[in-house]
Amino acid sequence: MRVLVTGGAGFTGSALVRKLLEASPDVVVLDDLSTGHRRNIDDLPITFIEGSILNERQLTEAAEGTDSIVHLAAMGSVPLSIDDPAACNEINVTGTFRVLEAARAQHTRQVIMASSSAVYGSNPALPKSERDWVRPMTPYAVSKLAGEQYTLAYQDCYGLDALAFRFFNVYGPRQDQNHPYAAVIPVWTHALLTGQPLLVNGDGSHTRDFIYVDSLAALLTDAVTRRVSHPEPINAAFGTETSLNQLIAALEAATGVSAEVSYREPRAGDVLKSLADNRVQQTLFPDVPAVGLEHGLAETVRWFRAALRG
Ligand SMILES: NC(=O)c1ccc[n+]([C@@H]2O[C@H](COP(=O)([O-])OP(=O)(O)OC[C@H]3O[C@@H](n4cnc5c(N)ncnc54)[C@H](O)[C@@H]3O)[C@@H](O)[C@H]2O)c1
Repeated sequence: MRVLVTGGAGFTGSALVRKLLEASPDVVVLDDLSTGHRRNIDDLPITFIEGSILNERQLTEAAEGTDSIVHLAAMGSVPLSIDDPAACNEINVTGTFRVLEAARAQHTRQVIMASSSAVYGSNPALPKSERDWVRPMTPYAVSKLAGEQYTLAYQDCYGLDALAFRFFNVYGPRQDQNHPYAAVIPVWTHALLTGQPLLVNGDGSHTRDFIYVDSLAALLTDAVTRRVSHPEPINAAFGTETSLNQLIAALEAATGVSAEVSYREPRAGDVLKSLADNRVQQTLFPDVPAVGLEHGLAETVRWFRAALRG
């Protein structure tokens, strides 16, 4: 079995490649290293192609002979998509379209696409079910909605086995705290371990459904190995709601460091509350266990401590 992971040198992708290698001997990664790192996958026995999903030649080479493509490559940042919506549209919408076309040309049997809980946008319903209406509020969220709908339409029109997962907030080892739009857990973990204050956008009552990256990798690997498909998008999370203030307390417990917290204005486009209805996921993937926040944060802190030691 041959599997292409686009964006496989990134945070989620490198966890997925590790999990796939336990199940499938042949993994190809296509990544332009715009936010991913070679060091994330350096030690792994895979075929690495440094290139873009927007480059037809590189994409064709990467997709050749694949049974499944897990499409993770994207502009993954909401603020960056607001600053540069054209680039977001090109990478996330056109890029997904090109991946689907490559799959069609190479007779790849399955495409799994990384969508986002951001598609729910201004819909205040909680928990968020895949049948709820969507109202994306940012170019990033619109691009993810377009990508997932393209992916599912290719299943209808061309007989690909498709899955469109709406990832909720993913965290874990190798998540990058260094770029200006990094996610909250790596930024705060790094800040706590290096004695810096935690900056909170809003009053800390915003909630998120955090999913540990190895759980997500297990979900995606199970989807690949059993070649699961589904006609509608699927929430990827375990249905746990954590406020940012609760997260700070959990991080203090995991690091043993007490936080100096500074609250500031909420960010444009930030969703107030987020919690997944994960019944579809549980029905399709009953054997993938949830990893609790306490354990996931302990592993994350362990990795950051080791990285800081160099
Ligand atoms: N991390 C989360 O909480 C989260 C939540 C919802 C959805 N997602 C989605 O999951 C996917 C993976 O995100 P991540 O958090 O691992 O981010 P990441 O930035 O670590 O991974 C994305 C990878 O894609 C690569 N990439 C970007 N543009 C590319 C291109 N044109 N061609 C080839 N490679 C390219 C990057 O170099 C990087 O390695 C993305 O599609 C993201 O939108 C992530």
